[in-house]
Amino acid sequence: MIFDTHAHYDDETFDEDREELFARMQSAGVGGVVNVGASLQGVRASQELAGRYPFVWAAVGVHPDEVGSLNEETLQWMYELCREPKTVAVGEIGLDYHWNREPHEVQQQWFIRQLEMAKETGLPVNIHSRDAAQDTFDLMKEHHAGTTGGIIHCFSSSAQMALDYVKLGYYIGIGGVVTFRNARVLKEVAAEVPLDRIVVETDCPYLAPEPNRGKRNSSLYLPLVIEEIARIRGVSAQEIEDATWENAHRVYRKLQE
Ligand code: NI
Repeated sequence: MIFDTHAHYDDETFDEDREELFARMQSAGVGGVVNVGASLQGVRASQELAGRYPFVWAAVGVHPDEVGSLNEETLQWMYELCREPKTVAVGEIGLDYHWNREPHEVQQQWFIRQLEMAKETGLPVNIHSRDAAQDTFDLMKEHHAGTTGGIIHCFSSSAQMALDYVKLGYYIGIGGVVTFRNARVLKEVAAEVPLDRIVVETDCPYLAPEPNRGKRNSSLYLPLVIEEIARIRGVSAQEIEDATWENAHRVYRKLQE
């Protein structure tokens, strides 16, 4: 079975056929999905989806672009949601120096607060890092993010950085980008990270794999990602599917309860 460790099915591009898509998923081999919050609205919607579908779980967290909406009250509300039985992670949280929607200090402050939330509620984290590789890593080390563990989502840095995260106790999230012809570094990452530390993800509706690049993404396209990782590593797609399924259950500990 395939496990999608990072999806955004609350996105409005799914409003038309969400029900139908979820109905097809399990027969297409997708056995689990974690819907990841990005905004406060997304956090709420993720809880609703997890409540409605038995194979959907939720992550609770606010993306660096959206941390301007956080305050003590909304943080408290997220703490409560972290204790819900179907909340398996805190995320997506991190730093985004590409769009710079919020000042770096504000991003860092809420990244740390949400890391603390993960520690205090015993959850792993789902990390978003764009054009901020060194700051993300340094901040995580400084705040002992190794104690929560988690996934570096949509990994986009070097193979060396991936191995440093693995050493810190993290898993590397690989999605549609690995199928792009020009994704030389990510293909290297897919080859070098130990197989017991790779998970697959869509980040849908974004980042559809080839040959669907540019279209709306969904978990139904994950076999294309799995096949590409298998091709790069010279193993069968089944081996990658089985390993990434197991890895998802190891990193999202609450799935086993
Ligand atoms: Ni995402």
